[in-house]
Amino acid sequence: MENGLKNKVVAITGASSGIGEATALLLAERGAKVVLGARRLDRLAALADRIAATGGEVAYISTDVTRRADVANLVQLAKERFGRLDVLINNAGIGPISLLDELRVEDWEQMVDVNLKGVLYGIAAALPVFRQQEFGHFVAVASTAGLRVVPTMAVYAGTKFAVRAVVEGLRQEAGDKLRVTLITPGFVHTDFAESMTNLEVKAQILSARDKIGISAAAIARSIAFALEQPADVDVGEIIIRPTAQD
Ligand code: NAI
Repeated sequence: MENGLKNKVVAITGASSGIGEATALLLAERGAKVVLGARRLDRLAALADRIAATGGEVAYISTDVTRRADVANLVQLAKERFGRLDVLINNAGIGPISLLDELRVEDWEQMVDVNLKGVLYGIAAALPVFRQQEFGHFVAVASTAGLRVVPTMAVYAGTKFAVRAVVEGLRQEAGDKLRVTLITPGFVHTDFAESMTNLEVKAQILSARDKIGISAAAIARSIAFALEQPADVDVGEIIIRPTAQD
């Protein structure tokens, strides 16, 4: 695997907005070949056009991370179009947070399906490919909610704690040829609150985001840093949050 980002083949889930979109733009600008997955094809097509217009190499496919076959197809597209997969960024996530007393069980299930099972499907899709290639880099986007639980975030934090556990287990099992990185953002200025169903909680989160949220580009730079390291350097975790965050 080459050092740096030039020609690295990087697949990204949830690439149609926020951190995923910013990461696709930055990595493509630095010479990576990006393979974009998300559910909103119109947005992916527009992003792909932007990247191609500046000379970037890009492919995209409709990907719902709650479907194992979709995630497998994303990895497959990277192999078909660019001959290999260097990096899989498991970024897709939702946060319909609320107090447990509200019993919004469908929201709980959705968070488990997208935030946790989506990451597992990513591992299931890419691990055999990485093993066969004898190189590969897993990146998962967790959250500072995966470090500290606060009221309304029990289930969301549960999924992110679980991602942290799975990613640490993967790192230990990965051996000396694969790399595994957890990106742990604090408040980021994205449309993430759009996935929130409790309007009161959503308003609080939006207000905090508007006061202290850092840009998605800042998270993208932290991902680029982990990817750019030489193949024998494993950046285990980057915690990146606003200076103003508790
Ligand atoms: P966002 O809402 O802009 O991006 C999330 C992306 O995931 C969207 O493109 C959305 O369509 C996609 N997505 C949702 N469900 C999906 C599914 N079933 N299949 C495929 N794609 C799906 O929000 P943001 O902030 O960019 O979120 C990215 C990641 O960052 C998430 O994992 C989130 O938990 C995490 N995060 C966000 C923070 C924030 O303050 N915005 C803080 C900490 C972590």
